[in-house]
Amino acid sequence: MQLVHSPAELLSVLRKDQTGTPESLGLVPTMGALHAGHTELIRRARAENTRVVLSLFVNPLQFGPHEDFAAYPRDLAGDARIAEDAGVDILFAPPVSQMYSSGFASRVSVEGVSEGFDGASRPGHFTGVATVVLKLLNLVQPTRAYFGEKDWQQLAVVRRMVRDLNVPVEIVGVPTVRSALPHETGLALSSRNTYLSAEQRSRAAVLSRALRAAQALYAAGERRSKALLAAASAELASESGLTLDYLALVDGDMNEREWVDNEGVSAESLAEYRLLVAARLFGVRLIDNMPLISADALTAAL
Ligand code: PAF
Repeated sequence: MQLVHSPAELLSVLRKDQTGTPESLGLVPTMGALHAGHTELIRRARAENTRVVLSLFVNPLQFGPHEDFAAYPRDLAGDARIAEDAGVDILFAPPVSQMYSSGFASRVSVEGVSEGFDGASRPGHFTGVATVVLKLLNLVQPTRAYFGEKDWQQLAVVRRMVRDLNVPVEIVGVPTVRSALPHETGLALSSRNTYLSAEQRSRAAVLSRALRAAQALYAAGERRSKALLAAASAELASESGLTLDYLALVDGDMNEREWVDNEGVSAESLAEYRLLVAARLFGVRLIDNMPLISADALTAAL
């Protein structure tokens, strides 16, 4: 694996290794603090491309003034080991000055899909994400780029941007990896889980239990979003340390749905429906989402 710190060096490495044989390049954009969710992205990228670039950049543009930019976990040496073991060919870890030179004045703003939910709670967040993702896509020029479905709205924003701006890349969404540890079963893996103690992580698994409660009700035939969300709320109410930010059912365009019309919605569109939750627990903001139906039922429906 090669470790690269500047855009200029990255371009020269990418160009030098091109031998003329057909190549495909998979990009896995990350902010580091790599966990099994990231290694799953790398595994997919490895399986589908001849070379894999992992970017590791804690992007200041996507953090609000009172958010955790300074505290965000950083461990380049540890992440480099994980990336190398997972089969990454090039690790691109630029300092902030290489990505945002003085006088940097451009922003990518994606309207609509970026406005509600995290966009409303974290003003400017998705502009920061879209700006850095477009820069990374321009720098690496990958065939495919891999994003975790855990950040469902981020995935929607990136997909919209790529479509709108004709960026020649395939965006691949990879299902959320969840903890299988007995005390925190179902907890969506996130770099921010490192802020929580083992006991707090086990209590945070309430988010996934809440979404599963709504999924179970849907599987039992309920189609009103109000009832599905009430089932999730009841589960969330069991955790006293939780402050809810939002709980919603959205379609693939991030529009809230009041009910699910199975007759009038194609299986493909239904597969894009998501139950979303964001909450603050023990001072940490956590998000999660699930499709309306289980992955198995989803595959069977398509
Ligand atoms: O999901 C993340 O880790 C970040 O938002 C991303 C996509 C790497 C952009 O900084």
